[in-house]
Amino acid sequence: MEWLLRQYKEQIEQQLPVYIESLRAPETIKEAMLYSLQAGGKRIRPLLLLATLHAFRKQVDIGIAVACGLEMIHTYSLIHDDLPSMDNDDLRRGKPTNHKVFGEANAILAGDALLTYAFQVVADAEAISPDVKVRLISELAKAAGPEGMVGGQVADLEGEGKMIHLQQLEYIHRHKTGKLLQYSVRAGAILGEATEKQLTLLTLFADHLGLAFQIRDDILDIEGDEQKIGKKVGSDIENDKSTYPSLLTLDGAKKKLYDHMKEARKLLDEVGVDASLLHYICNIVETRDH
Ligand code: IPE
Ligand code: IPE
Ligand code: MG
Ligand code: MG
Ligand code: MG
Repeated sequence: MEWLLRQYKEQIEQQLPVYIESLRAPETIKEAMLYSLQAGGKRIRPLLLLATLHAFRKQVDIGIAVACGLEMIHTYSLIHDDLPSMDNDDLRRGKPTNHKVFGEANAILAGDALLTYAFQVVADAEAISPDVKVRLISELAKAAGPEGMVGGQVADLEGEGKMIHLQQLEYIHRHKTGKLLQYSVRAGAILGEATEKQLTLLTLFADHLGLAFQIRDDILDIEGDEQKIGKKVGSDIENDKSTYPSLLTLDGAKKKLYDHMKEARKLLDEVGVDASLLHYICNIVETRDH
């Protein structure tokens, strides 16, 4: 990985446990939160936020708290996504899923805790003005909630065992995965004091990137290597989910991925910033094997 991104990743991974350890809460919940937060993961959302800040030549320090909050919300979504009542998966980030280790009730609570604590972390962030903070919090709630990720997860579950249209699948992907990725870029752009025009372009860029990211996830669920992706291959087929490959064939899904990434890169080049790190992340999203 590009050295700067590796450095950002280290910063995030150093900070996450600090946030959890500072909690005055029962050890069980802290342990369950830390377990999933420290299980690894690409940290693509925090990295997108910091890479966007970098594109606007800002000190990335001002984005660390929001980046950590984002990773907490993402991690909560994975813990709940793996529950028996949802995708029922036993392996995540190369380790047994949270509910396998801590039991279902604690896994639900660890998810709840990560979700709520994320907002506390953002609200308490230093070096962000109150009005920017309120905007970031409001957008984060929207991206993660019923109009965002949660809405996508509901539609994903409702789509199980059914033939759905590509348009509906696009809604699912755009919401369950896209909205949080889009927020990552928007938060970086807002903190970076982007103009309205730049924010619009970056929002569209991230929309394509988000769709591409989930299409790649669908593809890896079929042809990925369990060791590398750290989760079970074939989970979508087992749950009878509609995915890009199931609707369009594997080749059709790959073509869509390519098209979205092409459009994403084109939009990125129109923003007029140093987008080298964001381009690097585009390459990761398009070709990742985990
Ligand atoms: C997995 O997300 C779930 C999706 C939204 C596709 P990631 O692929 O970002 O998972 P980690 O964080 O790297 O484990
Ligand atoms: C998950 O999509 C999206 C969220 C967790 C919000 P998937 O169910 O495809 O993610 P994986 O494959 O389990 O990581
Ligand atoms: Mg799922
Ligand atoms: Mg899943
Ligand atoms: Mg998947």
